Parts: sequence; structure tokens; C-alpha cells
Amino acid sequence: MFKIAKKRELNSTVTMMDIYAPQVAKKAEAGQFIILRVDEDGERIPLTVAGYDRIAGTVKIIFQIVGGTTMRLNAKAEGEYIEDFVGPLGCPTKTEEIKKVCIVGGGVGCAIALPVAQKLKSLGAEVHSLIGFRNKDLVILEDEFRACSDKLIIMTDDGSCGRQGVVTAPLKELIESGEKYDEVIAIGPLVMMKFVAATTKSYGVPTTVSMNPIMIDGTGMCGGCRLTVGGKTKFACVDGPDFNGFEVDFDEAMARASAYAEFEKKERELNCNLFRKEVE
Ligand SMILES: Cc1cc2nc3c(=O)[nH]c(=O)nc-3n(C[C@H](O)[C@H](O)[C@H](O)COP(=O)(O)OP(=O)(O)OC[C@H]3O[C@@H](n4cnc5c(N)ncnc54)[C@H](O)[C@@H]3O)c2cc1C
Ligand code: FES
Repeated sequence: MFKIAKKRELNSTVTMMDIYAPQVAKKAEAGQFIILRVDEDGERIPLTVAGYDRIAGTVKIIFQIVGGTTMRLNAKAEGEYIEDFVGPLGCPTKTEEIKKVCIVGGGVGCAIALPVAQKLKSLGAEVHSLIGFRNKDLVILEDEFRACSDKLIIMTDDGSCGRQGVVTAPLKELIESGEKYDEVIAIGPLVMMKFVAATTKSYGVPTTVSMNPIMIDGTGMCGGCRLTVGGKTKFACVDGPDFNGFEVDFDEAMARASAYAEFEKKERELNCNLFRKEVE
């Protein structure tokens, strides 16, 4: 069992938790993920390592409440326990030889992007961060990004915070104004990463994306997380989650991501009803 050492709501749909898991904290690196189960009969879900404290033995996770399991996790209070917390899994984000980077984060993907930005900053890189959200109520981690970025641009779809529009607009402007990035690292919704890669490709700026397909075992055995990258089959859990953005077949990934939509909708409704009954 793993204790929830700290819990904080970042906005109405995103929660941050520090989980006491010293063995995971000892080895975790930016870009890796864990798989957890909230309770004994729970489903396994992957979440990215959003930070770690090797001395305190805690691992930070930041999750969006989107369905059954994340609702159950969010229902746990500080001091309570979760059943399993396995990791670190996947490959760390490559940071070698990056002197200047543009980090592009979208929505809860910013939680995944933050430790990468922090790590690159700590290694001496110049970090520009472009983070996008639907509106100002959904903005998360602004202070944390400001602290590790030489340049920070916030975008919202409705213009209620920062500039109005999508992250690819300032990305294009920065590249056209002469910023020379060794790498662009994009983490967010599939459609965002697809368009970031399409933008950077025309300027020849190397681009890494972090893929988050359905994962089951997280060890390369089940094939659930397969993707086509450069015409070859790859498993996001062991070969990724980071891949060359120019090589990922995003259209196939988007089709696979929506395959369980109907089942997930039913689960969400069931969980909502269960919670409603518990409260009544
Ligand atoms: C490597 C990786 C890292 C991730 N990191 C984060 C993170 O840091 N923060 C965060 O909020 N989310 C992250 N996700 C997504 C997260 O796993 C899903 O939001 C979560 O599984 C939803 O479960 P649910 O039962 O609450 O929702 P459901 O209603 O079951 O699903 C909602 C959506 O979540 C995704 N999903 C569901 N089950 C899985 C699964 N087993 N594996 C992958 N995706 C699934 C699907 O896109 C689905 O449409 C990550 C996914 C991957 C693969
Ligand atoms: S989750 Fe099973 S192969 Fe990757």
C-alpha cells in the first residue's frame, strides 16, 4: 500500500498528489511514468512522474479527472493509501546536447512537460515554454513554469489568460524571428502534437512528442500501446513514451485512442451514479 503524503487541487478537474514510494522516487527521471491501482479490484492506469523527492521518498503525480479510475483516485484523501504504484516505467526524456529548447505543453500535458523543462533548466539549457489551455480556469503550474523558463507564453482558446489562440502560433513566430532551437518537445493532446510536428517540420527543427496510448501491462507484453513510428510498430511503454514527432502516425494513434470511447462513457456514468448514491 502506498500513502498519499500530500494532495492539492490545481483546478476543478486537475489534482496533484505526492505518493510515498521511496523505491520509485530513488530511480525516477523526467519523462518516465508509473502504473497505479487505486484499490484491489481497480483498473491499472498510467500517469507520468511529474516530480520526485529522493530524500522524502515521494513521487509527484498530476492527473485530470476524466473517468472512473481518476474519479476514485481523486476521492482519496491525504493520509489514505492506494493499492499499487509501480515504476518508474518507460525511457527518460533525452536531454543530452540540448542547449536551447522550446517546450510546448497543452492542458494536463503541462504536468508532464514541467519536469522536462525543470531538468533542462537545471542542466543549463535556455528554456522557452509555450503552454496552452482552454480558458483561465484550467491554467495550471504557471508559477512553476515561470520559475524554470527564460521565456513563457501562455495561450488560451478564449483569450481569458495570456494570448488568445493555439500554441502553434507563437511557436511559428519564435522560429521565424530567428530563435534556433536544438529541440522542440511537445506534450499534450494528440491533435496538438500532430500540428506542432507539422509546424516544426517545415523549418527542420527536431521535435519530440510524448505519446499516451492505452496501456495495460506497461512492460511491452500486451501490445495495447502499439503505435506506428517511421513505418515500424513501436510500444510506447518500453520504446517511449517519447518519439520523433516527424515519424509518428498521429491519425492511426487518434483512431486507436477513441476505440474505447463508448465503454469509458458508460463507466464514467456508472461511477458518477455510485458517487451520487454514496453522498445521498
Ligand atoms: C504514458 C502515459 C502517461 C500519462 N500521464 C498522465 C498524467 O500525467 N496525467 C493525466 O491526467 N493523464 C495521464 N495519462 C492518461 C491517463 O492514463 C488517463 O487519463 C487515465 O487512464 C484515465 O482513466 P479513467 O478510468 O479515469 O478514465 P476513462 O474514462 O477510462 O478514460 C478516459 C481517457 O483516458 C485514457 N485512458 C483510459 N485508460 C487508459 C489506460 N489504461 N492507459 C492510457 N490511457 C488510458 C483514454 O484516452 C480515455 O479516452 C497518461 C497516459 C499514458 C499512456
Ligand atoms: S502497455 Fe502492454 S505493450 Fe505497452
